[in-house]
Amino acid sequence: MTESFPDPGPDPGNDVALYVHWPYCARICPYCDFNVVRAKSDKDVGRLEEQAALVKAILADMEAQGSLTGPRRLASIFFGGGTPSLMDPDAVGRVISRARALFPLNGPIEITLEANPTDAEADRFAALADAGVNRLSMGVQALDDAALAFLGRNHSADEARRAVAVAGRAFDRLSIDLIYARPGQTVDGWRAELTEALDLGFEHVSPYQLTIEPTTAFGRAVARGVWTPPDEDLSAALYETTQAVLGRAGFEAYEVSNHASGVAARSAHNLHVWRGGDYLGVGPGAHGRLTLGGARTATVAHRGIGDYVSGVHLGASWSERDTQSSRDAAEERVLLGLRTVEGVALANLEVLGRAPDAEPLAGLTADGFLEIRAGRVIATRTGRPVLDGVLRALLI
Ligand SMILES: C[S@@+](CC[C@H](N)C(=O)[O-])C[C@H]1O[C@@H](n2cnc3c(N)ncnc32)[C@H](O)[C@@H]1O
Ligand code: SF4
Repeated sequence: MTESFPDPGPDPGNDVALYVHWPYCARICPYCDFNVVRAKSDKDVGRLEEQAALVKAILADMEAQGSLTGPRRLASIFFGGGTPSLMDPDAVGRVISRARALFPLNGPIEITLEANPTDAEADRFAALADAGVNRLSMGVQALDDAALAFLGRNHSADEARRAVAVAGRAFDRLSIDLIYARPGQTVDGWRAELTEALDLGFEHVSPYQLTIEPTTAFGRAVARGVWTPPDEDLSAALYETTQAVLGRAGFEAYEVSNHASGVAARSAHNLHVWRGGDYLGVGPGAHGRLTLGGARTATVAHRGIGDYVSGVHLGASWSERDTQSSRDAAEERVLLGLRTVEGVALANLEVLGRAPDAEPLAGLTADGFLEIRAGRVIATRTGRPVLDGVLRALLI
């Protein structure tokens, strides 16, 4: 049913990954500013026709982008959203087989799909595994009913627990997304949620600090003073609790918000992206990075579903296509690489004119925020919780 995935993973210099964006959600969560649309009822013929057209467009877009990259080795596939667990498993299977046909030089690869933990979606998990998905990333968000209600989720903690049990029978590899730094949250409550998440058997945990995005319902509520996010001290205590609970259980923070129970449990897809590997982005609003004609190219697909579908038919799925300068590409590698335990090659900082023995790099290493090891710059335990500030000091 599931394939084993060999470490150390894809080669970021040669392989190409695939990101597929499925924008539909059963309900729009008040904190989310991803490119999402509310799925109407299952019986809505318009919606079914639109989804069928979107699947066709995604397949055609993969074909068009594949002809630009040529037949490279496939690194991984990631179905993100939105809510790809609402996607027809048959369509998921068609995307996977088309990717394998377009990029034939591949063996077992990691194929992840993001799932919301509702009873209705759990019913599809076995079919999604049969379609070729071998890793499920479950958006549980909280294991507390009051917190789930505050987050506007359409499932209870018990429903999530049931979905996790079903997922465990269909998939060997399970990851959980949790959101912390919610108003009123306590360190003890968060410790209990994390401990339960570990007991549920996840090999990978992504605890995200709640970000208040200005264009969301939460952004508007906070701006009006309806409620206030936790202060810096509580947020820092929740972060430290996360590190302590997961660290004690043998989970390594291989990226700022991603913890894995061993090297094989790391997300190969995300590592490929953080290491600066190429990836095709298909689906409305999907971002991609492709090396075309020797230049790293940043792509963004049309955000609207109709615009994307008609764009693909006209041979223009991208609303933006930017050829990055070597400085832009190096800066992006630094921004992504410093989030991981691997850090980033010093050569990228040298492209940006940052020498190890001159400011700001010399000061940041002397103050213990960064270290330089074997030709790489790595954020330390002190530097990671304040990484945004470290990056500002390093890059501005
Ligand atoms: C785009 S969602 C897709 C997953 C799936 N639809 C779900 O909700 O479970 C990916 C993850 O981003 C995280 N996320 C989205 N908005 C966030 C925010 N404002 N603050 C923190 N985490 C957020 C959530 O943990 C979520 O599981
Ligand atoms: S968090 Fe997930 S379910 Fe909620 S709106 Fe965003 S993508 Fe959709």
